[in-house]
Parts: sequence; structure tokens; C-alpha cells
Amino acid sequence: MRRFSGSPAFALAALALAVPPLRAQVGLASPDGRNQVTVDIREGRLTYGMTRDRRPLVLPSDLGFEFRGAPALRDGLRITDTTRQTHDEWWTQPWGEVARVRDHYNELAVAVEETGASRRRFTLRIRAFDDGIGFRYELPEQPGLGAFQISDELTEFNLADNARAWWIPSNWARMDRSEMLYSSGPVSVLDSVQTPLTMELQDGRTFMVIHEANLVDYARMFLRKERTETRLLRAALAPMADGVKVSGRTPFETPWRTIQVADRVTDLSPSLLGLKLNPPSRIANTSWIKPMKYVGIWWGMHINTMTWGSGPKHGATTEHTRRYIDFAAANGFGGVLVEGWNVGWDGDWIQNRNAFSFTRSYPDYDLPALAAYAKEKGVGIIVHNETSGGIQNYERQIDSAFALYRSLGLHAIKSGYVADNTSEGHSHYSQYMVRHYRRVIEKAAEYGIMLDVHEPMHDTGERRTWPNMMSREGSRGQEYNAWSGDGGNPPEHESILFFTRMLAGPMDFTPGIFDLLIQSDTSGRPRRPDQPRIRTTLAKQLALYVVLYSPLQMAADLPENYEGKPAFQFIRDVAVDWDTTRVIDARIGDYVVVARRERGGPTWFLGAITDEQGRTFDVPLSFLPAGRRYVAEIYADGPKANWLDNPLPVAISGHPVTSASRLRVVLAPGGGQAIRFRPEK
Ligand code: NOJ
Ligand code: CA
Repeated sequence: MRRFSGSPAFALAALALAVPPLRAQVGLASPDGRNQVTVDIREGRLTYGMTRDRRPLVLPSDLGFEFRGAPALRDGLRITDTTRQTHDEWWTQPWGEVARVRDHYNELAVAVEETGASRRRFTLRIRAFDDGIGFRYELPEQPGLGAFQISDELTEFNLADNARAWWIPSNWARMDRSEMLYSSGPVSVLDSVQTPLTMELQDGRTFMVIHEANLVDYARMFLRKERTETRLLRAALAPMADGVKVSGRTPFETPWRTIQVADRVTDLSPSLLGLKLNPPSRIANTSWIKPMKYVGIWWGMHINTMTWGSGPKHGATTEHTRRYIDFAAANGFGGVLVEGWNVGWDGDWIQNRNAFSFTRSYPDYDLPALAAYAKEKGVGIIVHNETSGGIQNYERQIDSAFALYRSLGLHAIKSGYVADNTSEGHSHYSQYMVRHYRRVIEKAAEYGIMLDVHEPMHDTGERRTWPNMMSREGSRGQEYNAWSGDGGNPPEHESILFFTRMLAGPMDFTPGIFDLLIQSDTSGRPRRPDQPRIRTTLAKQLALYVVLYSPLQMAADLPENYEGKPAFQFIRDVAVDWDTTRVIDARIGDYVVVARRERGGPTWFLGAITDEQGRTFDVPLSFLPAGRRYVAEIYADGPKANWLDNPLPVAISGHPVTSASRLRVVLAPGGGQAIRFRPEK
């Protein structure tokens, strides 16, 4: 697939020169020619800049590193060599938002060297795609640079436009594991933010997203400004306990720094740039990796009717679990998550993090018997591993735990990391944690286990290499509606998530709460004026199954809240693995209308959500195949529905349609609509 673009004549000419030609400025263009990167030496510093259709998006921006115990690698540089190649390949994903991905780019590698005494060298490798660019540093093995400790990465993103950004902060001592509500405003007022950082340029016709890809052995990247009122963002790395950001040894590669671009907001999703910058799958046989819907002994703990710890309200009992398994089997769900099954939850489970056992059950939970029962019913138990950030405690047990789960035929784990710092004092997003999360992914692959990680490292496309890394949280999910103390997620939340968090990868948001006012909470806890509740309509909960992509998708409510509810049929029917995804209409923070076709079948689904404003869309069904008759099964907000005081009515109807039809999709304030298009029999 790879070929070198330089002509033989050019190569010979270059060879003829004893010294490689010294170039000051080199350029690279995407296959369609629209995205251009210019790499330059300016006053001895290596810089890059980016344009789209010749319009500057990123002005010349510095590159380099600061080290602990060694001078910065930034000044007095010269370009010693450049190489180019081009690549064009399609691959089929084992699962995803789309089945097929085209990896088409032009690449430029720029080798640079210090001109002073130390002569340290590195290569900047850049790939230009039609949907954005990626670049990374490669530090070759060399006498002047062996073991190193990075104290700062000096990569800048000097933005040309005072674009509007949607962001969550990164400069807090506590970062709540990214579980925060988004703000938006011009880049000039940002301080320190997390990625993906999504921006709409002032012309309203260009969108940019800064993120990273293939984070394997490095610290997570945030973005920060040194001075307010500028548009100069700089990479900021999460520290380990001793303040070092990255410790390594040459040869070494950093993650890719990525800038996704699109002309229309609807083209931002699905975001595939990061996947293209991760290596192909390391799992040869992926047949055991199966997207699925699941239920769980979970919401009961969040609304206080059950406990994780032992006692009269213990959720994870053999009896409860059998009931959930029966419910899953009766409704075609693949998994049952059980939290609070293992010893260690009693007392303060965040402080007592080293007390968790990942093999020993509470006496009222018979793991082997339940595993066998689930298997008999064609369901799998999703084993819960909350670490509370006790990393060594988890790693010590990981082989025995995973071996146990495998011996019982259990192939999925939901893990958790509720802690700002690990028990060893490292930041949640440090290199130490990056390495840990990676080790767990690889261990899980070895034991045939799929992963759903809560409080995860942010997603940088690992699922391409390790497709057992299926879903993760890493944002404010449904759980906040149960207890957040600020009234829950506002109605605009999910329409921001779609263009921020979801551009990194799948999210285990856990949709599907039907008891929107949480009347099942009979625990007697005091009802406050900001009483927790779900600030959506019920139809919007259904639409979230199509909008918020996850290959592991939960029906989060208590089973009893689904019994006898016609709207539950949509959750039973909706697919979790997609061949095609089309974002039909959207505005960040306001609304999203998306259609997806199931993998391996003709059925299409549509999900539409809105913020606190009601909206009407006229949707052409041109995504359906021409000449085929379909039935649209519509789950719409019912008469007078709205999130605030009438969230429950859902109007269910069926209509014959074809690709020539148009549908009037009416959303209530805080509402949504979910549609299944099945071929007519
Ligand atoms: C936070 C997770 O997001 C939630 O899903 C889980 O139930 C609790 N931690 C306990 O592990
Ligand atoms: Ca969480």
C-alpha cells in the first residue's frame, strides 16, 4: 500500500549531494489539496502552520520539549532531511459507527538537528488527510539523547481565528474525571481546557477539533494559555507524582496531535481521524468481541434504593441477579452488569480503595452459579471492577481475577476509577495511568475480555488496535441526574456531547431512564427544590440510543420501570452496531438529527434530540435505498409533552415510507424522537 512519491531521478539527485540539502520551509497538502501544512525554521525554531483553502487556521506555532536535567530541545534547529510518502487503504472495522474506513493521506517527515554542540535530533512526522492533520515527534536513539524526562511539551496551536469553543476546564486541582458540564465562548477567553476541543470559526463555515491519537506511553494532553486575550494554546501534560510529565528512552514516539476540520458541523461526526492514526488491530480473531445492549444492578444504587455494600438493601444478591438475567433474556439483551458483588464496598469505598477484592464475592452473591445460569439463558454477566484509583491493588489481582472470569465464561468488564489521584499520588491523567489503562486493555485481550471503562483515560482511538476496548465514560453521564446536587444535566447537554466528547469515541452514557422524576426512589431521602430528575422527555431518552454511540449500550432504568411500557419496544429493537452513519442536521448545543443503518441489515434508525427549545424538522428520507418500501415506527413526544412538567407522553405510530418521502419531525422542549425504519414485509 505504501509508495514513495519522490521520482527516482529526484532520489539520485539528492544522493549526489554529499550533505542532505538544508531547507528552511517545506509544505504538505492533503489528497484533495485543501489542507496544507507548512513546516519552517524561524529564528532557529521549528514551526508548523496550517491552512485550508489557503486560509490560515493555525498560524506558525512552535514545537519542542523541555526536559528535567537537560536543556530544552527547541532552539538552534535546522532541517536536515525530508521524506514523503502517500497512503491509501480501506479497512473494515470489527464494529463501529461505520463499517468501512478509508485511510488516505500524504505524509511528510521532517528531520531536524540542533546546530550547537549537542546536535540532538528528532523527526516531525505529519500526515495530511482530507478531514484534518496529525503530527507527532519521533526521537531516534542517539548519543546525546537516551533516557529523558519531559517537564513540558512546547507544542503550540496558534489559532488564526477567535473561534467559538465548547470546553470543559483542565486547570482544577480536581478535574472530576472530565465529568463536567460544557461552557462555550471565544478562544480568547479560554484558560485551560480538555480535548477534544471543538471550535466553530467566526464565519460559521469551518469547524476545527484539537485532540490527540494513539496515546500509549505518554501523559494526556490538555491545552492551556499562558496569557489571556490571546489565541495561542499550548500543550499541557498531566504530571506524575514527582512533577515529571513523561519519562522515556529513545527511540521514542509521542502520540499524534490532531486537528480535525470540516466545512459543516454535520461533517464532524463520526470522527475517524484518530482511528486512522492508530495501528491496525492486534487481535487476529475478533469473533468473540460483540456489541450488545445490557441491563444492570446499577441505577438502584444511584437512586438510593439499593446499596453497593452489604446489608438489607444490598443490590448484588443472587436473587436480584437471577431476576435481571431473566429480564435480559426475555428482552434480547446480551449482558447484565452487576455492581457491588465483590468484597470491599463497605465503609468509604473511595478511601478504602486497597480493600477491594476482585475475586471474592459477598456471601449473598453466588458468582459461579449465576455465571452458569446466565449462560444457560444466553446472557453474559458484566463483571464490575471498581478500583477507586487503587492501581497497585488492582494490578496485583488482575491475572487471578481475569483468569477466574474467563474460567466462568464471563467476557466483559466494566471498570471504574473514582479518584482524582491514584493511591500512588499520580494524576488521573498522568503517564503512569496511561500505562495502567493500556496494560489492562492488553491483559483483557489476552483473557478474551471486552472493556467498558468508567473514569477512563480519554479516548485516543485505542479501539482500532485493541477492539476489545469498547466503550468508556469520561464525561458527565446519566448518573448525574440521580445525585448531582445541581439538578442534573441540562437539556442542551447531550447535543454538546455529540460534538465534543463523542468525537473522541464511544461513550457509555447509559440512556433509557423512563422514571424521569425518579419516583422509584422510595428511600425517604429528603426532597430538595433542586430534586434530582432527568431533564428530558421520555422520547428523548429513546433517541439517545441512536444519537450517543456506544457498542455497549445500557437500558439503565430498573426493569420494573420498563414492564408494560410500549416505548420499551424501541430499546429492544434498536441496533448497537452500525454500517453507516449520516448526521442530517445539527447545531452544537441546540439539536442533532442523525440516521444510522444497522450493521449487516437493511434497517435504519433515526434519533433527533433538542435542547430546551421545541423544534420541527422536515427530514428527507433519501438515505433509504431507492425503490424499497419501509415502515417508519415513530416514537415521538406526545401531545403537550415537554421536559419541565410533562415529560412522559410518547406517541407511537407507524407509517409506510420510501426514500422519496419526507417526515415532519416535531420535538418538544427538551424532547426527542426515535424512529425505526424496517423494510415492509
Ligand atoms: C462511577 C461510575 O460512573 C458508575 O457507573 C458506578 O456505578 C460508580 N462509579 C461505582 O463504581
Ligand atoms: Ca462516573
